[in-house]
Amino acid sequence: MTDEKSLVSGFDTSAAEPRLDEGGVLGSIGRTGASRRQFIKGVIASGAVVSSAGYVFGGLGGCSMEQPAGGAAAGGVERLISLMVNGETRRVDVLPFETLAMTLRYKLGLTGTKLGCDRAECGACTVLLDGVSTYSCSTLTHTVRNKAIRTVEGLEGPNGELHPVQQAMIDELGPQCGFCTPGQVMSAVGLLETNPNPTRDEVRHALSGNLCRCGAYDHYLNSVMRAARA
Ligand code: FES
Ligand code: FES
Repeated sequence: MTDEKSLVSGFDTSAAEPRLDEGGVLGSIGRTGASRRQFIKGVIASGAVVSSAGYVFGGLGGCSMEQPAGGAAAGGVERLISLMVNGETRRVDVLPFETLAMTLRYKLGLTGTKLGCDRAECGACTVLLDGVSTYSCSTLTHTVRNKAIRTVEGLEGPNGELHPVQQAMIDELGPQCGFCTPGQVMSAVGLLETNPNPTRDEVRHALSGNLCRCGAYDHYLNSVMRAARA
């Protein structure tokens, strides 16, 4: 019976099966007394850990958060630039290949913009650039210095009230886990500002770049149609 320790390490040192005694990694595992089967289990376990780490830290692919003193990093040197975010000028140090999602979330503290895939597949990171819905995970920050950037935080009314699209999504029970919601909201706002009376198909098309793992698509469609009627 595998004990708790072997579940963590991936192999049981008490087993009597043939041992691996080659050099390198195999050798070091062999010296611990691991069997072939236990070694394979260990590799699978460590592979799972690597995969999980890739998922957790995948969102950091847009820039290195570890930099030596002076701002130099593997991707280059940061440069101080001005961005127009939600109607305000924000000064921020940006690496040459830093994505807008990284800048917004980790340097400007605008965490309403989510990072899902970090590779232009899910739409969680959608923001408006000059009114056009755009994946911020696939947009270099240096390329948007002359654009008006709007994030979900920028939709708040003067007295803290929700944007009509946000209110409609609440009314129609759009958000389930809510992870995709800011992206859905920004795509919907971008649509309604250019087309205030869209057909259901036009809404469907506008939101087609926003994946919802909870499958709440009809709720989001109903929400945008409701907001258009408001
Ligand atoms: S995080 Fe940008 S498209 Fe998925
Ligand atoms: S509400 Fe959960 S991913 Fe869309």
